[in-house]
Amino acid sequence: MQELGEWFHNLDLNGVPTAPAHFLGDYPNVQWTQFACAIPEDLQGASVLDVGCNAGFYSIEMKRRGAGRVLGIDSDPTYLAQAKFASEVCGNPIELRCMSVYDVAALKERFDWVLFLGVLYHLRYPLLALDLLHDHVVKDSLVFQSMQRGSRQIDPLQHDYSFDETSIFDSPGFPKMHFVEQSYSHDPTNWWVPNRACVEAMLRSAGFTIEAHPEDEIYICRKRSA
Ligand SMILES: C[S@@+](CC[C@H](N)C(=O)[O-])C[C@H]1O[C@@H](n2cnc3c(N)ncnc32)[C@H](O)[C@@H]1O
Repeated sequence: MQELGEWFHNLDLNGVPTAPAHFLGDYPNVQWTQFACAIPEDLQGASVLDVGCNAGFYSIEMKRRGAGRVLGIDSDPTYLAQAKFASEVCGNPIELRCMSVYDVAALKERFDWVLFLGVLYHLRYPLLALDLLHDHVVKDSLVFQSMQRGSRQIDPLQHDYSFDETSIFDSPGFPKMHFVEQSYSHDPTNWWVPNRACVEAMLRSAGFTIEAHPEDEIYICRKRSA
């Protein structure tokens, strides 16, 4: 386990924790327990794509719920090696591929459930990623999470505004994305941090309907039919 580098996911590998000193606690278990009930207990026969799977925590949980095909993709081979090791030790081996979210069209396959958790704010082109997921791999459901900062207020939005209307941009509930030029939380890959209104507006804009919001940062979405 130690030879595979520093772990971000705290997994229980036969009683050995992989990241016991995680700065977010028993992560991602603390988050999963908040929304596990929003995903069917029985995923028998369902296909799952876990985008930015890291060490495979969520992929393994989907396997445990009976999902047939679970494919985890991540752009970092170090995390994929951890996911391979962890899923095998847990007895739930998952299929893994080193791939960026920007390349999902190459999969030429749609999945019943697509997990896109904790990746959006690491991207320089976040809306492009959502569009690509919608257009190429989501068959029905998207489970989404993003770090959020700023106001949690949500303003009702009009279809259009006149050029003279400038005050809406100062309202805390208007969709806003904060750009991090250097680094946030010691992580230079934290590029964009949306407020809540922005997360919801982006999901809608990419063609998703928000069906459930079981935890502050988690959204269960359905693909909107054209
Ligand atoms: C904060 S971790 C989230 C891991 C996991 N999805 C979770 O919610 O616990 C972000 C993960 O996204 C991966 N990632 C970053 N940019 C990516 C990209 N362009 N395509 C695919 N994965 C990416 C990172 O390597 C990392 O494993």
